[in-house]
Amino acid sequence: MQAYVEAVNERISHLVSADKDSDLSAAMHYSLINGGKRIRPALFLSIVDAFREDWEAFIDMAVALEMVHTYSLIHDDLPAMDDDVMRRGKPTLHVAFSESTAILSGDALLTDAFSLIANIDTMNTSRRLCAIKILSEGAGSKGMVKGQMLDLKYENTDTSVKTLNHIHAHKTGRLIAAAMMMGACAAGEDPTAFESIGIELGLAFQIQDDILEATTDETTMGKSFSDAKHNKSTYVSYSGIDGAKQALSHRFQSIREALKNLPIDVTKIEPLIQAIETRTH
Ligand code: IPE
Ligand code: IPE
Ligand code: MG
Ligand code: MG
Repeated sequence: MQAYVEAVNERISHLVSADKDSDLSAAMHYSLINGGKRIRPALFLSIVDAFREDWEAFIDMAVALEMVHTYSLIHDDLPAMDDDVMRRGKPTLHVAFSESTAILSGDALLTDAFSLIANIDTMNTSRRLCAIKILSEGAGSKGMVKGQMLDLKYENTDTSVKTLNHIHAHKTGRLIAAAMMMGACAAGEDPTAFESIGIELGLAFQIQDDILEATTDETTMGKSFSDAKHNKSTYVSYSGIDGAKQALSHRFQSIREALKNLPIDVTKIEPLIQAIETRTH
């Protein structure tokens, strides 16, 4: 995992520079550099690595994923959304810069991500197109954005665990699934099997996020907690810490079983699954 994360960070430093004369580039730099666990790009690279040896050649696709994820966090933190003040251990972008700069930086990161993929001229066009299709569908109106909309809709309501799963399968699951599916299609393989595994991993990721939010503090997590302020249902509010931990271990078990059934070198992915399962922030 460390090799993937280092490669992603190095490529981001190369691609994004903080131009002192441009608030937009300074804000994009602020959000992308030195922040984030890089879980989605690392997952993507681990799947590529499980199929072929030259994963480093796919680094721009990994960075594109991180740009889309980072945009989603910037907009998620805005006053009109979760109204949060800390992210990745620093003041949120709208606090550090301004609300308008945060909106536009998110717009720019989302849009530039697709141009980054379109311009990977060492890769054939059908693989680039496949990645663009998966990423846009995972992030858009049937994916992450849909989940964000549902998340807001169900604030202040007692949701069933079925509804909670539906929200998180979109809000968090679809982008994580897109990371895995993109890995397969960029490697020239069929991405189908990774859709349900990725959504399962996204749900596990969210359950874990809820457990961590209930058992650690804002400094450890590097972000302000706003679920309670907005009366959001969480896995912990629904089934308690022990119930959520049980659901979490059940999900990781089924993810591992599903991965084992695939005709790939799972040893490339397992350390990452382990790192996600044992994360502390
Ligand atoms: C945070 O994602 C948003 C959720 C889906 C819970 P991460 O925990 O991957 O955030 P970073 O990228 O490490 O900041
Ligand atoms: C953020 O979800 C997920 C997306 C940006 C799609 P949350 O609002 O639940 O996560 P945090 O707590 O702000 O990271
Ligand atoms: Mg939110
Ligand atoms: Mg939030």
